[in-house]
Order: sequence, then structure tokens, then C-alpha cells
Amino acid sequence: VSVFLVGAGPGDPDLLTLRGARVLSSADVVVVDRLVDPRMLELARADARIVDVGKYPGAGSAAEDQAAINELLIAESRAGSLVVRLKGGDPNVFGRGAEEVAALTDAGEQVVVIPGITSAIGVPGLAGIPVTARGESSVLTVVSGHRVDDDDALPYNALAALDGTLVLLMAVEHRARIAQRLIEAGMDPRTPVGAIERGATSDERRVATTLAELGMVDLRAPAVIVVGAVAAHMGALGQRGGPSSRLEAIAALV
Ligand SMILES: C[S@@+](CC[C@H](N)C(=O)[O-])C[C@H]1O[C@@H](n2cnc3c(N)ncnc32)[C@H](O)[C@@H]1O
Repeated sequence: VSVFLVGAGPGDPDLLTLRGARVLSSADVVVVDRLVDPRMLELARADARIVDVGKYPGAGSAAEDQAAINELLIAESRAGSLVVRLKGGDPNVFGRGAEEVAALTDAGEQVVVIPGITSAIGVPGLAGIPVTARGESSVLTVVSGHRVDDDDALPYNALAALDGTLVLLMAVEHRARIAQRLIEAGMDPRTPVGAIERGATSDERRVATTLAELGMVDLRAPAVIVVGAVAAHMGALGQRGGPSSRLEAIAALV
């Protein structure tokens, strides 16, 4: 195997899996995304080559950038390097992991996926939101709000009817439209919403609001937006002690 697609988790380097840390410490080349905390790279060998494709000088469009990343992974793998492709959260949750796996396998290269803690569940969890608290929600839906320019982009009626927890990723820009459409589809405007910006980092910011107010509150990307009864739990945990240092957090809790 020469390419490991590793989920880096939502932010804090402590949230990388042990398996991910082990392959990262052996890698010849580490190809990283914008959302990965630079401190995680301290786990790599001092002589490992680090390629930041968050700033990759691709031809411009997302598809062209992705093609350039695929080519880079294939070329490094063919050159015999042990390549770690480090991606934020879990590589397969809105992370284009499947495209990279397909490109590599089509090119005859072997690839192994090492899962990570997805921001969709881990960031709310760190902020005290249990996404499927018993008796409050037995449905968990994770949706991308990235391409929501037209009104048919999301199945709003189905989402509103689920009456569970709705987690929105990449939805900061279109949050007002999404909230409005969910209310029109029958969701209670008073539904609790918990939004967490830059979760699991030292800059984490939490905003508690409602569906009716979501479009009005100040919010910056990257953020996880949790819609549903469980969002009312936000802040119950983790208020004491910054999330960035595990030892500090434990010290603050005990
Ligand atoms: C392209 S998706 C990648 C998701 C990633 N694969 C995962 O499993 O978390 C990027 C979106 O994930 C969310 N996200 C990722 N990391 C985050 C973090 N530390 N805090 C808040 N949101 C985060 C944001 O909604 C962001 O726009």
C-alpha cells in the first residue's frame, strides 16, 4: 500500500486516530487540506515533504483542482513514496474521498482509508450536543448546504417531516434560505439551533439560536449547524477549559 487516506478529525490534533498517527509518522509525503490543523504535522517525520493542497495552484475550478490533486497522489505513489493524504474530519463525509480512491485505483495504485471523527458528529459532541439523545431524536441527517442556490437543491419537505436531528455542513452562506425553506416545509420556527464555528480549535465559537433567527445571526465558515431539539443541550459540556488542549480540558473538568 502506498497511499493512506487519513481522516484528521475536526481540529484538535488529539482527535486523530492512533492508526492515523502511526501512518502519519511514517509518511514520506503528506498531502494536506485547508481544514487540517498545522500542529498535526508535528507528528510527521522531520524530513517528510508536506504539500498543502488547500493552496494548490490548480487551474481554478474545484473539479480541476481535484484532478490536479489526484494526479499528484498518483505520481507520488508511483515514485514509491509512502503517501498520507490527510483530510479534515472523515475523508468520506463530504470530503471527496471516494473520488481520490477511484482515481488511485483506476491508476492501479493501492489505497487504504483510515476513518476520522467527522465534524458533523464530533463538533456538536464537543459542544455538548448529543446528536441522537434518546427520547429526543432517533433520526440523524447530515446535509451539505454548499450548492443550495436553487430551491430544489434539498428535499426540504422530507427533511422537515423527519422530526429528528439535521446537521448542516457548508451551509453558512445559504443558511437564511435553508431555514426559510424548512419553515415553509412545516418545521417549527422555534426549533433550537446550535451553530459551532471552528469547532475543536482554540478559536471555537458557539451560537445558540432558533430556526427563525438562523439567517440573522452572525456566523462564519467553517461551521457545523445543528437543527433540532438536541441543539438545546449546547454548552452543557466543555464550557470550562478550552477545547484545544486535552490536558487543560481534563484539568478543568476534574
Ligand atoms: C468539505 S466539508 C468536509 C467535512 C469533513 N470531511 C468532515 O467529516 O468533517 C467542510 C465543512 O465541514 C464542516 N467543518 C469541518 N471542520 C469543522 C470544524 N472544525 N468546525 C466547524 N465546522 C467544520 C464545515 O461545515 C465545513 O464547511
